[in-house]
Amino acid sequence: MITRRTLMAGLAAAAALPRWAYAAAPADGVDPALVQFIKGLPKSEYHVHLEGTLEAEMKFALARRNGLGLPFADVAAMKASYNYHDLASFLAIYYDGMKVLLKEQDFRDLAYAYLARAAAQNVIYTEMFFDPQEHLKRGVPMEAVIMGITRARREAETMLGIRSQLILCFVRDSSAESAMAALDAALPFKQYLVGVGLDSDEAGHPPEKFAAHFAKARANGLHVTAHCDIDQPGTLTNIRTALVDLKVDRIDHGGNIVQSPELVAIAKQRNMYFTVCPTFSGTLRKGLDQPVDVVRAMLDAGLKVTISSDDPAYMASEYINDVLLRAVTRSNLSRAELAQIARNGFEAAWLPEADKRLLLARLDAYLASV
Ligand code: HPA
Ligand code: ZN
Repeated sequence: MITRRTLMAGLAAAAALPRWAYAAAPADGVDPALVQFIKGLPKSEYHVHLEGTLEAEMKFALARRNGLGLPFADVAAMKASYNYHDLASFLAIYYDGMKVLLKEQDFRDLAYAYLARAAAQNVIYTEMFFDPQEHLKRGVPMEAVIMGITRARREAETMLGIRSQLILCFVRDSSAESAMAALDAALPFKQYLVGVGLDSDEAGHPPEKFAAHFAKARANGLHVTAHCDIDQPGTLTNIRTALVDLKVDRIDHGGNIVQSPELVAIAKQRNMYFTVCPTFSGTLRKGLDQPVDVVRAMLDAGLKVTISSDDPAYMASEYINDVLLRAVTRSNLSRAELAQIARNGFEAAWLPEADKRLLLARLDAYLASV
């Protein structure tokens, strides 16, 4: 019998479900030939937080190795706790999860596991985010973080043929001073970094808070990107600041830009690439009668879209091929658009032109062969 109590409990559970919670498998309803095309497509991704690839199984293994307790009976119970409905509620779970990362070997194992999964899905080049402020807070030296990840990058390139680079993210809702301290601690290792970025909770932490950090990073030869998360307070102002004033080299998410024809024109004129992650951030809703699909709207506006997996361990363990498969249905992507998205990815790489051409040649060879 459905009592008022069970009904209310059911509604509460439904409200707690993450926005991306899916009923169907990623390939459901996708033409099998297109499924094969996506699997074989040489790919890149530039919006993946290494700490967001920390799978529940690895959390248990690292906790055991480091002598830490976890407040979950098993992997299933831990995964059941991944209930969030907005950026802030996601971030609370994400930051709590990364506390098991303590030693250089932990960062190596985390990064290698992601690179192995990515390589198995034909990602041939990736630029990965990490959040060092969170680790410094727990007393982990910057050297352990960067050198652990660097060891994994080298091993994965040799063993698996996947090339990668590393982007240091500032945790925007921590103090500007702690972000500067993290940058200063990282600069002795700058040869292992390709850029800096900006992540975490955007509300009340606009990009200009990091103008000095970006300037110092640039002066040290690093590229600059910034998250402009979906439907954030002041999102169009923040996109404008990032694009026009701070002149970032890429924008992470940034989908609300379609609500400003003027900013769309500026982005096109600046040849901006966007790293779009449709799993959790694929729909504009705020203030709209009808939800707007981010990937579709950005493509239709003529913007340079790339697609990434963001925090796959917290998003049903769906890595890039599953993300693209779902995008086919939700954003009505054609084969030509998927090929263009892959091309955008290699063109957006923070690599020398000659290296980009090699990646693009691999894409062209694949497209000529299918
Ligand atoms: N946005 C902001 N902060 C984050 C994200 C994101 O997509 N993923 C991990 N930290
Ligand atoms: Zn992100």
